[in-house]
Amino acid sequence: MNNIEEILKEALDKLQSAQLADIENIKVEYLGKKGKITEILKTLSSLSIEEKKKTGSAVNEAKIKLNDAIEAKKKEISNKILEEKMKNEKVDISTAFSFSFPKGHHHIISKTIKDMSDIFVSLGFDVYGGREIETDWYNFEALNIPKDHPARDTQDTFYLENSEYLLRTQTSAAQIHIMEESKPPIKVIVPGRVYRNEATDASHSSIFHQIEGLVVGENITFSELKGTLQLFINRLFGQELDMRFRPSHFQFTEPSAEVDIKCVLCGGKGCRVCKGSGWLEVLGCGMVHPNVFRAVKYDPEKYTGYAFGLGVERFAMLKYGIDDMRVLFENDLRVLRQF
Ligand code: DAH
Repeated sequence: MNNIEEILKEALDKLQSAQLADIENIKVEYLGKKGKITEILKTLSSLSIEEKKKTGSAVNEAKIKLNDAIEAKKKEISNKILEEKMKNEKVDISTAFSFSFPKGHHHIISKTIKDMSDIFVSLGFDVYGGREIETDWYNFEALNIPKDHPARDTQDTFYLENSEYLLRTQTSAAQIHIMEESKPPIKVIVPGRVYRNEATDASHSSIFHQIEGLVVGENITFSELKGTLQLFINRLFGQELDMRFRPSHFQFTEPSAEVDIKCVLCGGKGCRVCKGSGWLEVLGCGMVHPNVFRAVKYDPEKYTGYAFGLGVERFAMLKYGIDDMRVLFENDLRVLRQF
């Protein structure tokens, strides 16, 4: 009996430090036909029945134990091999499919709207979204442009079929929404798209962009309007540019002015862009007309205000030296990539 235990212990010890190739040898050495454990069975004939039973079952038990240990060892070794293999063959799929996407950038118009808006925001203006589909009331009537007024002729309008709606011809329409929705003080800009039914050429497009400005409060003056616009122009072009205010007419402002800046390309000497005059017309502005205040139920005796409208494409073209507006809408990548 001691012998069996000793032999089993010996076999298990050997198994402990065995490699995969050694395992079969150990199996043969102990459990084979002439294996050390098998041999014990051959000595049974000289034993008493009692001892035969005991020894026989001890041998069987030892056989089972060793067999189990061998199978466990085999599994342990093959797991280790597999683990090692997986470690060596590890693939980082996060780099396996790495494409480099080309980075885009803002369109010149978006960029110009952002640059212009940022300057006004730094001067304390809020930004209002506005809407592109309007009614006659917002686009004309409330802006002191009655049904049969000739001022409507200068803004050929797209009307939506069979409806009272139209595509706004000017961001000025948003002035009315803002004043209907809130009380003074108001200091806001409205960047956005406007539509006019006109032929496209180097300086016209049926779709273009404006930035409207509206400031309303008590004692708002024309000199504040001048100061604000001068600051805006200087910052946008990064230089002190002379401005001049020419008397003009808009139905929704009184007095009204058109503003010219010294030509940014020739400095005032006269060139192709300023058509030899040395000046560039860049915006319209004025003091809010009392009729506009009446339309939104503001007391024109109590409040004053100024408004202005800037053409985004005009500024983009001047800033980036583009001489044909169509370039801004054709979206030729070879051109867009230059900005
Ligand atoms: N809405 C005018 C246009 O589209 C531009 C304009 C002029 C806006 C004077 C104003 C303004 O707010 O005061 O031609």
